[in-house]
Amino acid sequence: MTTGRFITVEGIDGAGKSSHLAYLAQAMRARGAEVVVTREPGGTPLGERLRELVLHEAMETVTEALVMFAARREHVVRVIEPALARGAWVLSDRFSDATFAYQCGGRGQDRRAFAALESVVHPGRQPDATFLFDLDPAVAASRQRAQQRTPDRFEREDEAYFRRVREAYLERARADPGRFRVIDASGSLEDVRGRLAAAFEAFAA
Ligand code: TMP
Repeated sequence: MTTGRFITVEGIDGAGKSSHLAYLAQAMRARGAEVVVTREPGGTPLGERLRELVLHEAMETVTEALVMFAARREHVVRVIEPALARGAWVLSDRFSDATFAYQCGGRGQDRRAFAALESVVHPGRQPDATFLFDLDPAVAASRQRAQQRTPDRFEREDEAYFRRVREAYLERARADPGRFRVIDASGSLEDVRGRLAAAFEAFAA
């Protein structure tokens, strides 16, 4: 039996992490694991409804952070913990690091208060590895413009906001180098894929 592992991917909007999820899932399956691919906010029926609200409905900033944690609690209890308990690998597109980056770094919420809430929402649980796609916000913004989608509430934020989010992510990575693998997300998809593959192989070896 394989041992369950919890892997997350993070990064500012436009850093390109979602383009590499299928690759990571396939690399995990190649090791014989059952893989559960999921995301935040979301990952459960209620979580997906909360996602719609938080991405599109104007709300106060503490409310926004609490909605992220509410969706996360459902996700942890109904999806993540049961999957890990049966030995699956869970690959989540974002987790709590995103709240510390977007709501604390980006919007100035108190890190200590949300660290206390984190310990209620997922006591004793942190990802085994977090792949942080790191990119200059100006480059990320130009990638997003090229996609020509209607931006959500977060994607409409300015470059200064994403600079704070990026810095908060990098600060967390520096504080926990055993868990974080920072992937330089500049250059072509193939370049980034190569860096990610090397980092994943080193982790999974
Ligand atoms: P996605 O576009 O990567 O699916 O993420 C949705 C948006 O939600 C993205 O702009 C980041 C934001 N977000 C937060 O602000 N805080 C959180 O805790 C999470 C999980 C996501």
